[in-house]
Amino acid sequence: MSLDWRENAKKMAAVHATKHIADGYTVGLGSGTTAAYAIQELGKRIREKKLQIHGIPTSNQSFLLAVEYKIPTTSLNEHPRPDVTIDGADQVDEELNMIKGIGGALAREKIVAFASKMNVTVVDETKMTKNLGVNQPIPIEVLPFALSTTIKTLRELDSNPVLREAKRKLGPVITDNGNFIIDTSFGQIDKPKELNQTLKAIPGIVETGLFVGMANIVYIGGRETVKKLER
Ligand code: A5P
Repeated sequence: MSLDWRENAKKMAAVHATKHIADGYTVGLGSGTTAAYAIQELGKRIREKKLQIHGIPTSNQSFLLAVEYKIPTTSLNEHPRPDVTIDGADQVDEELNMIKGIGGALAREKIVAFASKMNVTVVDETKMTKNLGVNQPIPIEVLPFALSTTIKTLRELDSNPVLREAKRKLGPVITDNGNFIIDTSFGQIDKPKELNQTLKAIPGIVETGLFVGMANIVYIGGRETVKKLER
């Protein structure tokens, strides 16, 4: 069965990204459908080239994929400075700032990205935007204890918070950390760094999906080719 162009674009970007992985590396394994292609390709390289690699999964999803593709896993506590992390994104602007978290893994993704020597982002070209936030809410992970007060504060900040509901389970989405996700839209975000700081100052917010100044390289899959942006 042939992949549609977007799946093919994601896969091409992911394959390009795995070229940054060398023997002996500890690799942050991102979450989402695009990162999954990178994990699959990494498993293939380990098998074919007999590489000694350890993966640090950013979610239960990427942990199970690592098991499936026979990538030995470790933890951030054992390897606090991963050599490279490959992860997807939901929106990427021209300065390589990103919105992440549609898959609900944003907190661990940001922790692993912050810890890594290099961050490589893999997307298809539909994820590129001039300004973050246009038609894209920011996912925010929040402690269940703080849900109502956080929603109230986010409304006061002129956004429209919505508790993310689970599909095929009653009630809210529960993250891998046991928390809730609020999706909240601010419209066009002109100052992502400042907005992230404002949100992080609200007690109860564990992490936001605004990733500012974290990506070093972005591979953008198109219909035929892959483009590389570097910061
Ligand atoms: C997971 O929480 C997200 O940050 C993903 O990295 C992001 O949603 C990209 O996912 P896709 O590659 O599936 O679009």
